Amino acid sequence: MVRRVRSVHRCADCGADHPKWAGRCESCGAWNTLVEEIAAPRGRASERSRARAAAAGADPVRLDQVAADATPRLLTDLNEFDFVLGGGIVPGSMVIVGGEPGIGKSTLLLQCAARLEARDTTTLYVSGEESVEQVRLRADRLSEAAGRVRVLPEVRLDSVIARAEQLGARVVIVDSIQTTYSDDLEGAPGNVGQVRECAARLMRFAKESGAAVLLVGHVTRGGVIAGPKTLEHMVDTVLYFEGETTGDFRVLRAVKNRFGSVDEVGVFEMSAAGLRPVANPSAAFLSGRDRTTPGSAVTAAMEGTRPVLIEIQALASRSGYGTPQRVATGLDHRRLAVLLAVLERRAQVPFHDLDVFVNVTGGMRLVEPASDLAVVAALYSSVRDRPVPEDVVFLGEVGLGGEVRPVSSIDRRLVEAQRLGFQRAFVSARGGGRPPMTTIPIAHVADLANQLAR
Ligand code: TYD
Ligand code: MG
Repeated sequence: MVRRVRSVHRCADCGADHPKWAGRCESCGAWNTLVEEIAAPRGRASERSRARAAAAGADPVRLDQVAADATPRLLTDLNEFDFVLGGGIVPGSMVIVGGEPGIGKSTLLLQCAARLEARDTTTLYVSGEESVEQVRLRADRLSEAAGRVRVLPEVRLDSVIARAEQLGARVVIVDSIQTTYSDDLEGAPGNVGQVRECAARLMRFAKESGAAVLLVGHVTRGGVIAGPKTLEHMVDTVLYFEGETTGDFRVLRAVKNRFGSVDEVGVFEMSAAGLRPVANPSAAFLSGRDRTTPGSAVTAAMEGTRPVLIEIQALASRSGYGTPQRVATGLDHRRLAVLLAVLERRAQVPFHDLDVFVNVTGGMRLVEPASDLAVVAALYSSVRDRPVPEDVVFLGEVGLGGEVRPVSSIDRRLVEAQRLGFQRAFVSARGGGRPPMTTIPIAHVADLANQLAR
């Protein structure tokens, strides 16, 4: 007997079930909160059925009897990708690769598939967005030979899982989660209920079969994986692929990783033959630097466990209109507003009639306050129209009082800076450590101004 799966529309706020979709929850009155889910079959937990459930389920295991890391990770040999995952793909894990359209997610995963096949790891590339011809065209451009990769043009979840099982695939790539749908639900592909159900089923498939599932998830401009933010909690690993689509650098960042450290980044360059790992990101990011232009300063940011040198550019120009513009790329605009206010009030550098543009080169995004001092130096240098000395790197957090505070991992940042030819560092006067180069202690942003004016 075939039992049809029943779906319900459940309110995400109060949990009330509705047989049909509605714009408003009848129970709590919230709007747009109903999400379609598969209804769980109800049953009475009598003693007998409980015993049966225990017999059918898993046995408790003593932790010291669990084999440590039994199955080795699958390497793609795409070094930066393996590195961000924490040393390759974990069998049975589910990874989501999020990113804006056009950033290179399909390219990245096709390259992974090609490399996995080259190492005799059976891989299935499910393409719900593009035809096999389109995938073939992309494959032709790549430096990897992708001929052995099996492509499945399919959007129905049941077929995807059936084919993956039939093939015995060790890695299944689903491009994308937003085009995959389950027949058990009525909603259109891409809606929250569908995305959640498909991800949950694929997760179960991964755990049961031991195959790794790599999901592509599109991200809206705002930066969330479209709709299903809940996916991030379900999957083992969440990677974001970022960068300026106009520039060549792409940054793969782990924001969640059950099998490795988070905030680890891998840097790639988009070339005519696909994505190339950038082995030396610091050198790459500094390669376009013009040492004689005012408004440029370099900092060493910790990206996960690695220090990376990053150039910050600032341009302050007389504003033509009433309210001056503040534009920040790769930097939080509120942080920029704070630093401008600190410079204005604590170091008497006026910005009120200037448009200010700040740009972090290489498509990187500064999240650490450790780069404050470099931002301030770039701003100051632009206003005064004097270049920052080219052999100087800036490391310091700036407080509201204008005080400069020490940063973490200072020694490792300085070693990286020295490796790339920097000879002096502006650091907090309160900073410790055993610096491998000349350091210039800065207690307050006003000191910085004096030092740079020299
Ligand atoms: P794609 O992988 O389709 O992005 P996504 O899946 O994230 O939407 O990449 C699209 C861009 O990458 C497209 O603008 C073309 C460019 N590209 C190259 O520059 N070189 C290449 O070798 C390939 C395959 C793509
Ligand atoms: Mg794509």
